[in-house]
Amino acid sequence: MATQGSDEERDGIGPGRRALLGAAVLGGAVLGLPGTAAADARHGGGGYRSLPKPTIIGHRGASGYRPEHTLGSYQLALDLGADVVEAGDLVPTKDGHLVCRHEPEIGGTTDVSAHPGFADRRTTKLLDGVSTTGWFTEDFTLAELKTLRAKERIPANRPHNTLYDGRWEIPTFEEVLRWQDEQTRKRGRQVWIYPELKHPTYFRELGLGLEERVAKVLRRHGKDRKNSPVILQSFEPTSVRRLDGLVGNPLVVLLSGASTRPWDFVKSGDPRTVADLVKPEGLKWIASYAQGIGPTLDLVIPRDAGGNLTTPTTLVRDAHAEGLVLHPYTMRNENPFLPANFRRGTDPDGYGDAFGAFRTYFATGIDGVFTDNPDTGVLAREEFLDD
Ligand code: G3P
Ligand code: CA
Repeated sequence: MATQGSDEERDGIGPGRRALLGAAVLGGAVLGLPGTAAADARHGGGGYRSLPKPTIIGHRGASGYRPEHTLGSYQLALDLGADVVEAGDLVPTKDGHLVCRHEPEIGGTTDVSAHPGFADRRTTKLLDGVSTTGWFTEDFTLAELKTLRAKERIPANRPHNTLYDGRWEIPTFEEVLRWQDEQTRKRGRQVWIYPELKHPTYFRELGLGLEERVAKVLRRHGKDRKNSPVILQSFEPTSVRRLDGLVGNPLVVLLSGASTRPWDFVKSGDPRTVADLVKPEGLKWIASYAQGIGPTLDLVIPRDAGGNLTTPTTLVRDAHAEGLVLHPYTMRNENPFLPANFRRGTDPDGYGDAFGAFRTYFATGIDGVFTDNPDTGVLAREEFLDD
């Protein structure tokens, strides 16, 4: 942040304009990078690069206001001005359909526990090495899942959202693609979506490989091309590389905490951690098959022991040097989810200074951000670009 301030004093250009200028310069830089240029040619440098910057991505829709991954949440994200909607996180059903849930276990986001007929489906499984108890999408047919209704995941933090419990079904990926077309027609602008493939190694071991299914559905809808308005993301690099061979869509590798290892790496014995992947050589490797990274915000600006933001890392610069866009996750308005220095008042679930936090992250030069509160993000961007 000190560096940003110094730059501004030197050339008199505000951070918003700097971000735009940076994007323009980097567009040219991309063309000069052979590995990246090859991947970019396959996946199209045009479509996703034309999105407004910093791009506001509705995380699980507008999940700050509605139960996540419902058509109601997706719809509201667009109404609130999101440029792109994360619709959805994708998991499979027993009969091989793709549905939108953040994880296979659905006890926390649906009313499944209130269905006596499904009581015997409650079970405990190892999910990416973690013992998990509940109900799992892969144990239900699509017809069975369609009898459930979505509910708020964190009612303690978001009690108002429980007003909408029970209103919406679990959407399928097919329904999302049709919804995208309807909304594009209705709004007279291209609606973008940003689906994530969840736990691809886990599901492949169950005989429910995700990548081929995603590719098939996208192909059926004519949305598997380099300029299609669909960005695909996964925490597992192996999955993104597999997608690289199946579709032309822009691809993003998600990056969790620095000390973690993607589950596909754990299973294959690849010793690299996220800390290795964010080094220049790791980023170069990612840029050979993907167009962007989705790091946790803490990889962009780490927090100290007290939860306060410290100094930005070199990740934005290093990723841009490889032609990769950065879409970090996740900005949320409530105090517990904000860095400590942006919390306000004594209500643990009240809103903090989300505008200040957005502004600070935008100033690092990120290309976009996932947020549960797209309206706050859009307004924060407006103010940032006006500075
Ligand atoms: O997909 C970006 C972000 O959503 C990754 O985190 O856990 O919310 O899917 P998660
Ligand atoms: Ca996600």
